Parts: sequence; C-alpha cells; structure tokens
Amino acid sequence: MKIENTINGVTGVTEIEPRRLLVHMLRDQKHLTGVHIGCDTSQCGACTVLLDGSTVKSCTVLAAQTDGCELRTIEGMEHDRTTEALKQAFNELHGLQCGFCTPGMLLAARALLGHQPAPAEADVREALHGNLCRCTGYQNIVDAVLLAATRLREAQAVMQAEASR
Ligand code: FES
Ligand code: FES
Repeated sequence: MKIENTINGVTGVTEIEPRRLLVHMLRDQKHLTGVHIGCDTSQCGACTVLLDGSTVKSCTVLAAQTDGCELRTIEGMEHDRTTEALKQAFNELHGLQCGFCTPGMLLAARALLGHQPAPAEADVREALHGNLCRCTGYQNIVDAVLLAATRLREAQAVMQAEASR
C-alpha cells in the first residue's frame, strides 16, 4: 500500500507493507537511524518520534496509521531557541552518557516545553517517564530540561521588555 505523509518537513509517498511498524519504515526505508530500537516492546522510548506534535513510541505505531500525518524525528528537530536551549543544557549538565536514549529524551522534552514553558520537576519527570536511560540516573536529564525552560523564559522576558521600550 502507499501512504503520504510529511517527515521532517518533506512531504512524500512511501510504499509499505500494511503490517510494517513506523520505526522500521523510518529506519530502513527513510534511513533516519536516530530513531533507535531499544526494546521493541514499547517500554524504553528510544524510538520516540513526534506524530502531529505529540510523542509516540514508533515501535507501537503502524506506518499505515501515519497516512496524512506529520512526523518529526531527531534528525528534523527544528533549529530554534528551544532546541538550542535543550542541547546546551544537556551538554552542560551531563544529561547524557552513551547517548542511546538522547534522541527520545530530547523529543519528549521538546514536546513538553512546547505546551508547558514553566514545568515543575514533577512535570518533567511525568513527561519523560516513558523514556528509559540506563546511564544517567535521570537527575541530570531532569535538571537539564528545567534549566533549558528557565533560560527560555528569561530570554522571552528580555525580548518582551525590549519590545515594550
Ligand atoms: Fe520502542 Fe523501546 S523500541 S519503546
Ligand atoms: Fe545511555 Fe541514556 S545516556 S541510555
């Protein structure tokens, strides 16, 4: 069967088997190997992508279900202030070690900050609870997301103050 969707801003038609999982279409047919496979049993979140702006575990979604949808993987994460703030904070606070979970963590964090610019620690933990990390113990990841959120709010406040002068 053929499906049409937009992946990282590019719209196109893809020929798939009806039983094909989204994670396999993205990795094997689109060569988007930042979508990792950690468990294949919907537990680890390494395969997280954004489907119409919300996080999904792509090993639990049939590619056919994404017909007409917009998908975003780590390769297509927008180069904007939110992405830069998250990357910088993960880097500074050691929010990663081996990096296997990092694409999923960044996409989940980005989805959170997109609708909740001032999350509490509990909100960050809730947003990331479907993403497992074997290396960091999570605290540095949570701290990095909170730091990114704080910096984004501060930058926003500065811009608003300058605009009102
Ligand atoms: Fe999809 Fe682990 S590979 S949740
Ligand atoms: Fe290694 Fe998270 S940094 S699994």
